[in-house]
Amino acid sequence: MPDYTELVAQAAAARERAYCPYSGFAVGAAALTATGRIFPGCNVENAAYPATICAERAALLGAYAAGEREVVALAVIADTPGPVSPCGTCRQVIHELAPGCTVALANMHGAILLTTPQELLPGGFMPTDLPT
Ligand code: THU
Repeated sequence: MPDYTELVAQAAAARERAYCPYSGFAVGAAALTATGRIFPGCNVENAAYPATICAERAALLGAYAAGEREVVALAVIADTPGPVSPCGTCRQVIHELAPGCTVALANMHGAILLTTPQELLPGGFMPTDLPT
């Protein structure tokens, strides 16, 4: 079983690198792949607000860009009252890029909630929904 506490710590370190001058809300993520590598992610905002990239997607895209295809765990952390809740777009991306992973949702007060992409997005749009 992955060391979720360590993965959350890596996500917290990535959170320190967030570029969030508009919201002031820093988010960190860390994706652990089947080869044992950890890919960090943080939110990177843009003055054209919709161009912002969330921490979860940054971590997953980093893993994919490195050629990794099997993500076994994804940690996300922010300064929220309870475990951080990924946005809808990130839920869809996690669902497709890391379908078999365990998602560890954390906050800065030590809360860690383990969940799955399917629990985060029941009925998510699937590649098989596209016409062949
Ligand atoms: N954000 C994330 O990075 N992940 C989420 O799941 C929720 C939102 C970022 C986007 C934006 O930079 C800031 O948090 C406020 O929405």
